[in-house]
Amino acid sequence: MLQPALSLVLEALEKIRDSQEKPLRVSRAILNRLFEQAASPAAGEAGVHAAPKPGEGGSSARKTDIAAKAAALAQVRERVCVCMKCPHLAHTRTQTVFGVGNPDAELMFVGEAPGADEDARGEPFVGRAGQLLTRIIETMGLSRDEVYIANILKCRPDMPKSASGNRPPTPEEMSTCIGYLIEQIEIIQPRVVVALGATAVEGLLGARGVMRELRGKWHSYHDTPLMITYHPSYLLRNQSPGEKRKVWEDMMAVLEKIDCPISERQRNYFL
Ligand code: URA
Ligand code: URA
Repeated sequence: MLQPALSLVLEALEKIRDSQEKPLRVSRAILNRLFEQAASPAAGEAGVHAAPKPGEGGSSARKTDIAAKAAALAQVRERVCVCMKCPHLAHTRTQTVFGVGNPDAELMFVGEAPGADEDARGEPFVGRAGQLLTRIIETMGLSRDEVYIANILKCRPDMPKSASGNRPPTPEEMSTCIGYLIEQIEIIQPRVVVALGATAVEGLLGARGVMRELRGKWHSYHDTPLMITYHPSYLLRNQSPGEKRKVWEDMMAVLEKIDCPISERQRNYFL
């Protein structure tokens, strides 16, 4: 009796939240948890912390939605895995680096391109810059599993045999690859996209700009709010506390946008 009613209420709440007119302060993660509670018959007695039983629970429409997103991403991933559009990159890469995280993420980070560590592991942001990004995400009270992380380029930009380090993607490589990222964003439909550094901005907005002027403000990628901030590699090169603080302030603006409460401790935090 109670369960169908609760499901109706939750669906109505979700519609209000999405209508923008009267924004409801609830995150997608909380909504998912409520759905799981509503569909688990034991939830009422067992309380809020009852673990949903596998194979049941959740508004079935919402579960179907998330499963569809995962399946759609898997299809794009398959195409990326065998992509030969940039023969020079296809021949030098160890593997493509598609993206990682939650197909239903509210928050999506976009970087530049895989480096050597990412090329070796097949996962974005796992090297030194990645460790800093992971720390930023965790300080936000989130995890890599809850958000989604991808790059403008899915292949590591090739380097001469003798050279170390990375080179930025060329405009041609970016325009060849950007379609995959656009598909990822369209499938995931994040509430906020964060562009990390100038290459991500160029890929998403099609224009190069001065990071100092672009960061810390809300921009728009199609209709999705876009926050621009410094790339974690920039923070590793430029250790000034002021620049790190700026990135943290940008991330607090992001948290507010996705209705995540910010603790006093987080407010006073310096990366
Ligand atoms: N830098 C990026 O821009 N992306 C990665 O995946 C790793 C480092
Ligand atoms: N310049 C860049 O290209 N990226 C940054 O993140 C900061 C400065």
